[in-house]
Amino acid sequence: GAPNASANTLDRQLTALQDFQVVAHRGASGHAPEHTLPAFQMAYDMGADYLELDIQMTADGELVVLHDETLNRTTDAEGPLQDYTLAELQELDAGSWFNTTNPSRAQSRFAGTQVPTLDQVIDRFGTQTRYYIETKSAERDPTLEAELMEALEGRGLIEAGAVTIQSFSQESLRKVQAINPNVPLVQLVWYYPENEDSEELTEWTGVTPGPEAITDADFQEVRDYAVAIGTNMTYQGEPVIDEAFVTQAQDNDLLVHVYTVNGIPMMEQLLGWGVDGMFTNFPDRLIRLTQ
Ligand code: G3P
Ligand code: CA
Repeated sequence: GAPNASANTLDRQLTALQDFQVVAHRGASGHAPEHTLPAFQMAYDMGADYLELDIQMTADGELVVLHDETLNRTTDAEGPLQDYTLAELQELDAGSWFNTTNPSRAQSRFAGTQVPTLDQVIDRFGTQTRYYIETKSAERDPTLEAELMEALEGRGLIEAGAVTIQSFSQESLRKVQAINPNVPLVQLVWYYPENEDSEELTEWTGVTPGPEAITDADFQEVRDYAVAIGTNMTYQGEPVIDEAFVTQAQDNDLLVHVYTVNGIPMMEQLLGWGVDGMFTNFPDRLIRLTQ
């Protein structure tokens, strides 16, 4: 880490974060296969503020960009990512599934596109964009944070203010902060009706499960290490947060970023509530509304 490299690095990012942020969820994943270079290129071309990436590790310890734990949904192979080396992974087609699932948006060039490495994405865009990176397999891969930060610092991306790190795992965020305190951190939460999983999720995120039950003290605990809370808007189509939640978070000096918002009416509703950013598979729609 380089904690004293620039005391102003975090401040500069925090200033930028005061503006509304369009976060391209898995790239422009409504238009192209999620988490592939075509999806990231499209989001960049649309003018999104951030490319959103979920990071996991291959069997041989390489950092790659993938959401699911398995390859089943988004490639032509099956089984857990952690059983594949990078070389094996790069044999796979991570685009044809999209053409099958979204015939109206299919493009022949998507077929055969690969699961990208973190390096491929950050080498393509450098400091031309910003990266909203989720430590997805932090519990499974205890060296994930160190390797991620090494890759980002090595390219000067932290210093450039081009990176925000997000996680559902509070422990993972604190590990990142210990490596380099100049990165804005986002505590992800996932609200859903109370059920048998609530206790486990609370332990994992460190945040109380019901948005109606959250207190100023809970928000302040998050504010101790994070600059924003990243929350879902709906659970099974039903809203789980309301305007009062957004206001309470902001009153506790936390920005509020909401995932994953694809419909224009919901975008408009959340803009009306004054949220600070949204994750969307359709950055073009959100950019049109906010320009
Ligand atoms: O990272 C915010 C949002 O992307 C969390 O949900 O499952 O899409 O990673 P997920
Ligand atoms: Ca994510």
